[in-house]
Amino acid sequence: MTAQVLDGKALADELRASFKERVATLAARGQRPGLAVVLVGEDPASQVYVRNKVSACEAAGMHSEKIVYPADASQSEVLAKINELNQDAAIHGILVQLPLPKHINEDAILEAISPAKDVDGFHAENVGALVQGHPRFIPCTPYGVMKMFEKYGVDLAGKEAVVIGRSNIVGKPMALLLIAAGATVTVCNSKTRDLASHTRRADLVVAALGKPRFVKADMLKPGAIVIDVGINRIAEGPDAGKLCGDVDFAAVKEVASLITPVPGGVGPMTITMLLANTIESAERILQERN
Ligand code: GUN
Repeated sequence: MTAQVLDGKALADELRASFKERVATLAARGQRPGLAVVLVGEDPASQVYVRNKVSACEAAGMHSEKIVYPADASQSEVLAKINELNQDAAIHGILVQLPLPKHINEDAILEAISPAKDVDGFHAENVGALVQGHPRFIPCTPYGVMKMFEKYGVDLAGKEAVVIGRSNIVGKPMALLLIAAGATVTVCNSKTRDLASHTRRADLVVAALGKPRFVKADMLKPGAIVIDVGINRIAEGPDAGKLCGDVDFAAVKEVASLITPVPGGVGPMTITMLLANTIESAERILQERN
């Protein structure tokens, strides 16, 4: 079997085109959606992600602000900025790029963001709402994966799903969304004993562990659906400098039924859902005001 490749780029383009009208409607009512992205430090990957987020906003006709602090910025300085953004009527979404430098307490920063503008969905109040099954903001990467399932008609009810990775950004919210959709969910991590015994049972595997080409064909049941959330830069060998995911794509696509590529799979969907969350936030704020 050769898998159908899920085209995240095409779906992202389709969704972003549909956002333009919503953005124009909001702008006409004086509520152009605005996203503030805060970056602390000079991590090269984070710089690229932040740049991409800001340019995606611009392409969608949205307002955006990039706020950059040096790596030695104090926690109170960043908190003061967040408080200012919480009050700023032009800003509907606030995102603090992670990871933060070690001297800054990540929880303190995330909890300072107004839950009404928390477009990452990382504030405890929004995590709680997701756990309870009535989310306000769904974290962007798992939200993008769910949109791909919707687009390709994947019915999750009753499926055995294995999520590899337990991060707050991807693994945990992904598991919660799959549970809400009726899947039977196992969450594995780097310490899981005999990981392949879990993945071989799975109808659906979501790989979000951050290890290049970790998921091999012999770890999967034939016909499994494979979602690759990894973005790794290959350090050496013939493919040095290229991007690859957490899945050994070339071999796995011969056993899977559906698979996401890297690049062009989940990646473009993540930023798309950030735009979606920011637009939703602006629509909600406008509705509450009227
Ligand atoms: N770092 C890696 N992924 C993310 C994300 O989705 N949001 C934020 N804020 N930081 C990240």
